[in-house]
Amino acid sequence: MSEPIVELRDVTFGYGNVPAVENINLHLHPGQFAGLLGPSGSGKTTLLKLILGNVTPQRGTVLVKGMNLRGRPSQRVGYVPQLETIDWNFPVTVEQVVLMGRIQKMGALPWATRADKHAAYEMLERLGLSGMAQRHIRDLSGGQQQRAFLARALLAQPDLLVLDEPTAGVDLGTQENILRLLADLNKDGVTILMTTHDLNAAAAHLPWVFCVNRHLIACGPPDEIFTPKTLNATYRGNMVVFRHNGMLFVGEQPHDHSYRDLVPNPVPGDAIIKPNGHANGSELAPQTQKFIAGDDAEE
Ligand SMILES: Nc1ncnc2c1ncn2[C@@H]1O[C@H](COP(=O)(O)OP(=O)(O)OP(=O)(O)O)[C@@H](O)[C@H]1O
Ligand SMILES: [Mg+2]
Repeated sequence: MSEPIVELRDVTFGYGNVPAVENINLHLHPGQFAGLLGPSGSGKTTLLKLILGNVTPQRGTVLVKGMNLRGRPSQRVGYVPQLETIDWNFPVTVEQVVLMGRIQKMGALPWATRADKHAAYEMLERLGLSGMAQRHIRDLSGGQQQRAFLARALLAQPDLLVLDEPTAGVDLGTQENILRLLADLNKDGVTILMTTHDLNAAAAHLPWVFCVNRHLIACGPPDEIFTPKTLNATYRGNMVVFRHNGMLFVGEQPHDHSYRDLVPNPVPGDAIIKPNGHANGSELAPQTQKFIAGDDAEE
């Protein structure tokens, strides 16, 4: 097998006395498209920081393309941060964000060349953002912002792309688009590691996953390692796994009480909805029945 693009050997790191990740051994090989899964606080972002060289392991070694990082970032790694961690008040346009991807290549001249700009616009077009280059980054939707940061990372032509929750906070269609785009990039030769909380999307789209909870709990194809045993060890919940039409689904066992115990509750609110679905008009009665727009039209 090829030399790993990322190798963690017995890595332990914590922000204080308590380790956030402990004794982690993992390999990511060139060409892999892998997910990093685990509950909130389980150390996913910390692992990405270690791979990016943003923090130095307290014990163990992080190798990227065979080089010991020792806390120094590798230029061959592109990073797409979690959207919530970005300061949106920073005055910057989409074009400027994307061109930041070229900074390392700009050399002595700290401004973008015509070729840099051409590459930036091509990337924006590929990611469905043409026409948005001059907008303030804050004025894009979550899915568009995600793609702008992806464009920035790709402009540096990384060997490895690391994404922190690229599908969080976007609708199902946008999530599908992002995952399809990442799969296309992977086919073009980019190795990808992404964190996600979406187990079902991981089961459907990712060929390989790492499950962590401070320690590495399991790694392998979701089809093989998404079992109640590994998922319960990772999430410390009561997970159920079932298959339907060749697809794998993961869910949490319902709690002792169901939301149905709370019915009738709340008392139907004071939304006033016309049978055709539009709210207006004082002559209308409050909607107290279950209502699905368009259902009455079929009757
Ligand atoms: N800068 C920091 N200072 C102190 N503790 C931190 C810091 N960043 C993370 N931690 C702690 O380290 C642990 C791992 O955090 P990390 O951000 O890696 O989790 P995560 O798996 O990415 O969680 P999430 O799914 O919520 O993003 C948590 O207990 C967290 O509180
Ligand atoms: Mg995180």
